[in-house]
Amino acid sequence: MMTSPNLSVKFKTPSLEVPAQEFRRAMRELAGSVAVVTVGDEKDRSGFVATSVASFSAEPPRLIVCINRASSSWEVLSRRGQFGVNLMREDEVEIANRFIGIGGIKGNERYGGAEWITLPSGTQVLKDAIVSIECSVEESLDRHDHAIVLGKVESIRVCDHGNPLLWYKSGYYHLGGPVERSGL
Ligand SMILES: Cc1cc2nc3c(=O)[nH]c(=O)nc-3n(C[C@H](O)[C@H](O)[C@H](O)COP(=O)(O)O)c2cc1C
Repeated sequence: MMTSPNLSVKFKTPSLEVPAQEFRRAMRELAGSVAVVTVGDEKDRSGFVATSVASFSAEPPRLIVCINRASSSWEVLSRRGQFGVNLMREDEVEIANRFIGIGGIKGNERYGGAEWITLPSGTQVLKDAIVSIECSVEESLDRHDHAIVLGKVESIRVCDHGNPLLWYKSGYYHLGGPVERSGL
């Protein structure tokens, strides 16, 4: 069996950066699912909306999420080493807005107006998310002002009702329906 060496390849970046505004404009075209990442327990909690959640590998089950290290949730996440990923339903815009921090609300206040389930690890997940995934931090990599967090999946809770809430062109969207089923 081929084993790959444990190499981290760093590519030489060209000297000129594309303007951030141009990059933001391009990323507006990247449609994504809205996830609320929850960190901490009832006494010490924070959380944020993330569109950077992605499946990393199925065997073993791992996901990644990128977090701005200047955000209020980073301190709690890096200290506790555990988090929940809640895939939001299309009718949960109000909850998502709280976790964006609209109106300057932080920490505990973001949890208002929704029902939460406390898992044995202490991590809280949204009762009515489509899917909630409990993770522990396997590895975290600081790059520029963000961290790439590799989450080991500890448990999965599937509600499986409702449709996903999407983010596209700087606003919320819902699914228009299938274009073609892949059969995968
Ligand atoms: C659609 C959308 C996606 C976002 N995705 C991420 C993300 O992947 N990672 C992240 O750190 N912040 C992301 N943010 C920002 C956070 O949701 C939140 O606004 C930020 O953590 C608030 O910082 P504070 O906790 O210091 O107030 C996103 C915001 C929006 C509106």
